[in-house]
Amino acid sequence: MPSSFYITTAIDYANGSPHLGHAYEKVLADVIARHARMSGRKTHFLTGLDEHGQKVQQAAQKRAIEPQVLVDEIAAVFQAMLGDLNISNDDYIRTTESRHKVVVQDFLQRLFDQGLIYKGQKTDWYSTRQEQFLTDKDRDPDGSWPEIYGEVTQTTEENYYFKLSQFQSWLVEYIKSHPDFITPRFRQNQVLEFLKEPMNDLCISRPKARLTWGIELPFDTSYVTYVWFDALTNYYSAVVDKGLWPADVHVIGKDILSPPHAVYWPCMLKALGIEPPRQLLVHGWWTVNNQKASKSSGNATDSLSVVKTYGADAFRFYLCREMVVGEDADFVVSDEKNPGRITFSSRYRQDLGNNLGNLVNRLLNMVGRNYGGSIPAAAADEDLEKNLRQLWCDSIKKYDESFAEYQVSHALEALWVFISAMNAYIEARAPWKLAKSADAADRARLDACLAHVAEGLRLVGTILTPVMPATCDKLLVNIGRPVATHFEGQLTWSAACTGSKVAEKCILFPPIEAPLETPSA
Ligand code: MSP
Repeated sequence: MPSSFYITTAIDYANGSPHLGHAYEKVLADVIARHARMSGRKTHFLTGLDEHGQKVQQAAQKRAIEPQVLVDEIAAVFQAMLGDLNISNDDYIRTTESRHKVVVQDFLQRLFDQGLIYKGQKTDWYSTRQEQFLTDKDRDPDGSWPEIYGEVTQTTEENYYFKLSQFQSWLVEYIKSHPDFITPRFRQNQVLEFLKEPMNDLCISRPKARLTWGIELPFDTSYVTYVWFDALTNYYSAVVDKGLWPADVHVIGKDILSPPHAVYWPCMLKALGIEPPRQLLVHGWWTVNNQKASKSSGNATDSLSVVKTYGADAFRFYLCREMVVGEDADFVVSDEKNPGRITFSSRYRQDLGNNLGNLVNRLLNMVGRNYGGSIPAAAADEDLEKNLRQLWCDSIKKYDESFAEYQVSHALEALWVFISAMNAYIEARAPWKLAKSADAADRARLDACLAHVAEGLRLVGTILTPVMPATCDKLLVNIGRPVATHFEGQLTWSAACTGSKVAEKCILFPPIEAPLETPSA
């Protein structure tokens, strides 16, 4: 039985356009999902849209349309982005679907029946931007509200509360005894820090007088469900009939770790007698040209336009290579004033075009010219070849180790050490000189050189398929190999390429004439 693997992303708010942050999270989860599938795990990859709540209601009001019309429109736009980025999700959940609503109502009813939901009156501060209640603890030292909350309003009303505080000591214990629950590790400390203060119970309702766009409470129809309670449940409602719970990984941004994912969600599940998810993989935030990526400035939406120019794979590669998972990163298309700076264009030109693309073409060229397009068998085996094979072993070991911790950037870095080594190998071997020699030993070296470069590229094309699926398919087909569908038996050095018929020419990363400007804020 292959092991199963259930991975999710956050579900995006249906109140604006998709932007870089949304795109990155899907790409990261997609790379992990594709890698798991190719590793032989029965993988289920879920993403979706968070369609209820005040923000959505307000956005619809602004345009004088029904919220359902708005979310239908936005769902189509977000789904189109998934297509543009070649995301391989198995399911797409929308919180207005009835398969989701019934589970939310079932959860609420069960908690109510167990006496874990009560009615009370409190005065609270509310941030619509974060769809979150705040307390005085959330204020800055000068008493003001941090900017991330946007406008904060005070409300006094009767609402239903979930007895969250009852689960605080269980949660602290759980987090401490499951050190991999929150990844990377330093994020865990932030949550434990938050949990040092006593938690408040969680308000899980909104009176319909104020908010109608939500799921009705099953035990009091004059209220709708608080949007976070509704949204978090998507991870479970989408697979309720599939036997896939618990999720292996929830991929989320750092802003929604605590309290929603690290506090509300595990406590809700605990109260319901359901296992918590195995892991929260928390990524940092993208800025664009060192400025906050935001909907209002438009910069983060525009940054998606590079997909049209450079293709999805180059974009996927850049995002994965540039962001160390957990830390923040800056998206820069090009920086003419600082030629040494690493940007999207520099990675495209150097890592992709020069290091990888040109290597493929050199191979096709030499094999075409000297072997009628058929990759030769490796005859000679000298130190240079042995070194190259060793470098592959080192590189794939580091790749696997980094990938196991979802540190895709480090994995790619290790792989490019090998790709650079192949370029250095070809320079050292100088096959163009060997081809002119009449000496049989030189011919054997030429055989070995082209066979090794072909094999190295086959290995690279295989391991990189989850990151750049279309490009790797093309690479492999052009060196006369089938596209890679699994890793097993495919990642060790072999003679698999011997006799493969290569294409005449293959441009993996066409040069782009004028580099795009980085969208400014
Ligand atoms: N709807 C909630 C999530 C509910 S999950 C049960 C939400 N939506 S969101 O649209 O605001 O954000 C969706 C995801 O995108 C979050 O994980 C968030 O961290 C991520 N990003 C939004 N902007 C981002 C960047 N600038 N950079 C990286 N990711 C960021 O929160």
